[in-house]
Amino acid sequence: MTVTGDPARAAAVLASGGLVAFPTETVYGLGAQAQNEAAVRRIFAVKGRPAGHPLIVHGADAGILDRYGLGVPPAARLLADALWPGPLTLVVRRAPTVPLVVTGGLETVGLRVPDQPLALRMMEHLGAGVAAPSANPFGRTSPTTAHHVVADLGDAIDLVLDGGPCGVGVESTILDLTGPRPVMLRTGGVNAERLEELLGAPVVRTATGPARAPGMLDAHYAPTARVLLARDAADAAATLARLHAQGVRAGVLAASPAGLPRDARVLCPPAPGVADLARELYALLRRADAENWEVVVAVPPPPGGLGDAVRDRLTRAAAGG
Ligand code: TXA
Ligand code: MG
Repeated sequence: MTVTGDPARAAAVLASGGLVAFPTETVYGLGAQAQNEAAVRRIFAVKGRPAGHPLIVHGADAGILDRYGLGVPPAARLLADALWPGPLTLVVRRAPTVPLVVTGGLETVGLRVPDQPLALRMMEHLGAGVAAPSANPFGRTSPTTAHHVVADLGDAIDLVLDGGPCGVGVESTILDLTGPRPVMLRTGGVNAERLEELLGAPVVRTATGPARAPGMLDAHYAPTARVLLARDAADAAATLARLHAQGVRAGVLAASPAGLPRDARVLCPPAPGVADLARELYALLRRADAENWEVVVAVPPPPGGLGDAVRDRLTRAAAGG
């Protein structure tokens, strides 16, 4: 396995059927040329991901809507114009150019243009779409640095394109545009209010129907440590005291150390904002594991903006038990 900053080299590996982990503005993806079924199958094997879970097809520009989608609705074009490249995945009907192994057998496909210069250059060189889930073993925290990918997947993949740490830090928002009303399947880098403002119509916030998306399972994004949710700093301090009394190795994950005991183990981003917490979230959860915490007491940020996505990921991490 090679680590490089060269997008042309990454494209060559993809073109020859290899697996490339690449940076996006959200998290690192584990990519294969979208039409190479054997390579796409290898993604599922490497991640330990169930075959029914669809992959997002990434592209260098909004041309992917017509290359990989069918009967693309005006709402998709409008959102692509306004928000691509960016952390938004649009689910539309699948064109026959997308193999069913990519979509987990679905007649729909998730499409996205990531806002990351190296990723865009890699896909321009390749001249084709790249099917990619997040580059982590199934169910675990997503990688936000090349180092995370190497630690998680190592020699199981062919190349890591190193673009430095991801700027957003939580996965893309997924919007399903195949039904009568837009449905948000996952909260992420773009919030619902922004989508509604652009569409001039309400977005259905909770996905009903079968949980066909791994990001929609209750337990996901989990570190090895158990995650407990606290209401606020005071609640976290009380939980921590109880755990310490039981001899449990525990600490707090929060946007800032304010209101927490001085002697507590605290993981927080360098600056206290919600965007900072989102960007650092997965690295902080990994640090808790590296420091052998048994329990992470997490203080979720307030809802709104990226706060919704961080709350969602922490809730699912906590459901991991
Ligand atoms: O930010 C992201 O979206 C990252 C980067 C690498 O682009 N990718 C990512 O992929 O998070 P993954 O596979 O870990 O999560 C993608 C989610 C899954 O929950 C999947 O089921 C859902 O997107 N998805 C993909 N295609 C879909 C479809 N046709 N219908 C419904 N859900 C879909
Ligand atoms: Mg994932």
